[in-house]
Formats: sequence, C-alpha cells, structure tokens
Amino acid sequence: MADNQMIPRRLLKVRVHGIRYEAEDIFSFELRSIDGAELPRFTAGSHIEILIKNGLERSYSLVNPQHETHRYVVAVARDPQSRGGSEYMCDILRPGHELQISEPSNNFALAEDAAETVLIAGGIGITPIWSMLQRLVQINRSWRLFYTARTRERAAFLAELLALQSQYPDRVTIVFDQEPNVAGLNLEAIVRSQSPVAHFYCCGPAGLLNAFEAATSSLDPATVHLERFSSEQAPARGGFEVTLAKSGRSFLIPADKTILEVLLSEGIEVSRSCMEGVCGTCETPVLEGVPDHRDSVLSKREREANKMMMICCSGSKTDKLVLDL
Ligand code: FES
Repeated sequence: MADNQMIPRRLLKVRVHGIRYEAEDIFSFELRSIDGAELPRFTAGSHIEILIKNGLERSYSLVNPQHETHRYVVAVARDPQSRGGSEYMCDILRPGHELQISEPSNNFALAEDAAETVLIAGGIGITPIWSMLQRLVQINRSWRLFYTARTRERAAFLAELLALQSQYPDRVTIVFDQEPNVAGLNLEAIVRSQSPVAHFYCCGPAGLLNAFEAATSSLDPATVHLERFSSEQAPARGGFEVTLAKSGRSFLIPADKTILEVLLSEGIEVSRSCMEGVCGTCETPVLEGVPDHRDSVLSKREREANKMMMICCSGSKTDKLVLDL
C-alpha cells in the first residue's frame, strides 16, 4: 500500500465515450481523457474512484486489459439499494458527459509469478477478476476460473467467458445458481482440490466472501486475496486519543466520530475517498497503539501487524494511538 497521506490526489478529467449493456442491470462505461492524452497505466485488479456529485464518490474496478492506455472501462450493477452511486452511473450518465476520476490504484494486485492462480467471482465481482483473467491469458500463466451468477441474463462478460471456456474447457466453471437443479459453488471442495502453491482471488457478495474466507482459513494468508464491494462492518467509534507524530497535536475522538471526521473538522487534510473502509485511500501508518480494524482492505496478516490502518472507519483498542501524520 502506498503511504499517500497529506498528498492531494491527482484527479483526471475524462469523458464517457460509450456505455454498453453487459447484462441485466449491468452496464460498462468507457472513459477517455478529454484531450485524447494517454491515461496513467494500471495493473489488473486496479480500481478508480469516480466523483459522482455533491461529494459522493464511488470506487469501480477497471475491467479492460492492463496494457490499454487510451481508455478505462468500468462495469456497474444498478443496485436497488443504491445510495446514489450506481443509480447515477446507470440512469443519468450518458455518452459525452464529463467526469472527474482518480488515478488508478490497486488493493487487489495479482501475483503474476504464481505457479497457479484460482479466480472466484460472484455477480458483479467478476469485474476485477475479468481484468486479472485477461492478464493471466496474456502472460500465459496457469489459471482456473469459478464464476457464479444468479442467472445467465445477469452474468456480465458472459460471451467473453464462454469463448474462453470453449478454448479451455477444464479451466472455466460457470454456475447460474438460481436456475433449476443447480448447486452453488462448493468453495471448500474447490480450494481443497487445487495445487498447494496456488494463489486464490475472490470478489463478490458478502456470503461468497465469507465462505471463501472460511474455505481458505488454513492457507498461507499471502496466497489468499479478496476484495469487498462495500464495507459490511460498522465503523469503529471514538473514546480514545489520537496523536499526530509530525505535528505533536493530539485529539480526543468522541463516541460519535471517526478519526478521519475529527481530523477533517480540525482542518487537517487527509487523502480519502470511499469513507467506508474499502478503497485504501486513507491508509495511515500506526506508530503506537493497537487499531480496531474495521476496513475491508487490509489482509489478515496486515491487520495483525498493526502497522497500518484505515482512519475513515477503524478505531482503537488502546486508549491512545500515535499516527505517522
Ligand atoms: S477512505 Fe476509503 S478506505 Fe478510508
């Protein structure tokens, strides 16, 4: 993770070049720079933040191949519980509209040198996985894909995945779990049957991710990678003191505020985006104290190391935290 605190984000201006229907309630958006300049390079698994309106930002995985620099493509599922992000993207945004976006960053990076890679996706969780899969095919690595969607009508990139399946029938498993007489993915069995040196990646709804975490709990954490869409954990709330090592200033974090909210209210500018522990932008080094981690970015090993924390959602298990800010 990058130590990006206090560094203002560089925003890019892009235009919606095209919108494509990918599946029921899923659209992809092709974004190009306004002046036709190359866009910053990215790696498979990267995401960008899109500034929607009124301070609302949403993080979306890039789905196009990582060698492309003339465009970014994101895919968005219209969420009936939308708090404004997917509704704006799917119902209001049109080709020709201009947007501000962040540069790509990657909290879900692919270990390209792994001898075997197992990709598991549920629903719109296929987005980072599809980008990874294109990369693995490009560099000729050994991989397996397990993709589950409710129905074939709701499966994004299905034509592309079926084409890969006809080329590599042993490597692609696609399950439509709401079709009659279809069993869902058995993650325990999938994980058990893979090579001991395999790296596992999973993105999808909470139920799939929880099953994935259970199925991989005995594996080396360095080989287990997952990405959540949104935080399912309640943010930690105050009752402790935070000291900023660089200025020596200390703040009491009250019960109804997060660390980030307190710092912003004191005029301290900190990089941030999602405000719910999923994007990694507010990651901050911890010098003293034990964070109460509530994010969906850090791995189990990173959490246990207590060296970094997401200050938009995480709190403290100790009376005091010293941050490298
Ligand atoms: S702002 Fe996104 S993780 Fe904190």
